[in-house]
Amino acid sequence: MTGVKRLSILGSTGSIGRSALDVVSAFGERFEIVALAAGGNIDVLERQIREHRPRTVAVRDAATAAALASRVGTACRIVHGGEGLVEVAVHEGVDMVVSALVGALGLLPTYEALRAGRDVALANKEALVVAGEHMTRLAEQTGAAILPVDSEHNALHQCLRGERSSEVRRLWLTASGGPFRRATLEELGRVSPEQALDHPTWKMGPKITIDSATLMNKGLEVIEARWLFGIEPARIRVVVHPTSVVHSMVELVDGSFKAQLGITDMRHPIQYALTWPERWPTPLPPFDPVAAGPLEFAPPDAERFPCLALAYRALEAGGAAPAVLNAANEIAVAAFLERRLGFLAIPRVIAETLECHAGEAGGTLDDLLAADRAARRTAESRLGEGALSR
Ligand SMILES: NC(=O)c1ccc[n+]([C@@H]2O[C@H](COP(=O)([O-])OP(=O)(O)OC[C@H]3O[C@@H](n4cnc5c(N)ncnc54)[C@H](OP(=O)(O)O)[C@@H]3O)[C@@H](O)[C@H]2O)c1
Repeated sequence: MTGVKRLSILGSTGSIGRSALDVVSAFGERFEIVALAAGGNIDVLERQIREHRPRTVAVRDAATAAALASRVGTACRIVHGGEGLVEVAVHEGVDMVVSALVGALGLLPTYEALRAGRDVALANKEALVVAGEHMTRLAEQTGAAILPVDSEHNALHQCLRGERSSEVRRLWLTASGGPFRRATLEELGRVSPEQALDHPTWKMGPKITIDSATLMNKGLEVIEARWLFGIEPARIRVVVHPTSVVHSMVELVDGSFKAQLGITDMRHPIQYALTWPERWPTPLPPFDPVAAGPLEFAPPDAERFPCLALAYRALEAGGAAPAVLNAANEIAVAAFLERRLGFLAIPRVIAETLECHAGEAGGTLDDLLAADRAARRTAESRLGEGALSR
């Protein structure tokens, strides 16, 4: 890569955002941070502004913007709200946008980044779950590249390099199985947020960690893979692989499997996305296949973890169903973290919400955003129903 790569980071204070800035710091002059966006963590944001000197920073609301301004003065322009996120996403002079907000909040800024022709390093899988077809079509039209940061899709992207799509039989997404891989249904009924937040192999933000525990994360990833790689759902398989050594696999028509293996550190896939199409020497510790030990694979258990099947069902149903699934999941996960909902009630809230909104159209982005809002209201209304809450 010649010259400096100029970046915007949406979600810079989060788990992925901070890892992305670690990667940037490791390569000194080769990256420049043009703009950052985050919610309300101004302690971290202040440090990031002093270290990376962005021109523009977006925060959640006006009060947060004022609090940040009182700390950093005129070091950068400070904007806020949804418009602020879009400003960061389409900022002048940016080569690539790291999309690492959490939830459907990331949809519009990511969409606008693609519309402006910016390459996107995409961690915010929910944007593709809600509006994958619109996003990928737009990227094709503007010539923007979408580089997956999610380790599984990043692995698939690497395995697919140089392969013809007609010669790909299936994609295999690996799933760690989360902290409750061996738990009985009865034990799952008593799971606390603290237990669910203790992921065995990856350190991540709270929402994705709960999604990993319910296997909804893998369901969202199936939908993400469908749109990223243009492959029908029946050709996307999920396999439980507890150590997460194999990040995912591609099965070719001649029976060969290609797998990508590595350490469980998100800075690895982030670096791949930021430096694509090149590969740069990593500052991270090397992967040791001997220390990694035996590789174990097992099928996912649909009875204890129904979220995966719900995601396949929403994908097959099409229209607004994936947006409804995602919205209901966001509401249910937030309620679980606030102890307003039991772990086993998460899939039930989602299933009920999907049923309520069956057959809704998703032809336009506005349809999907309306379905998202309506599904949130429905899911909220289900939380209060005693039969659903444990
Ligand atoms: N973490 C991982 O290892 C991982 C792996 C694969 C994919 N992903 C995906 O990457 C995305 C980010 O995950 P994460 O784990 O990094 O999440 P996270 O740690 O919770 O970070 C979320 C980011 O979004 C910001 N944010 C939240 N509400 C906001 C608002 N209203 N306005 C502006 N910014 C807001 C947060 O800012 P404040 O903290 O300042 O409020 C934070 O910077 C998710 O879609 C996830 O599925 C994550």
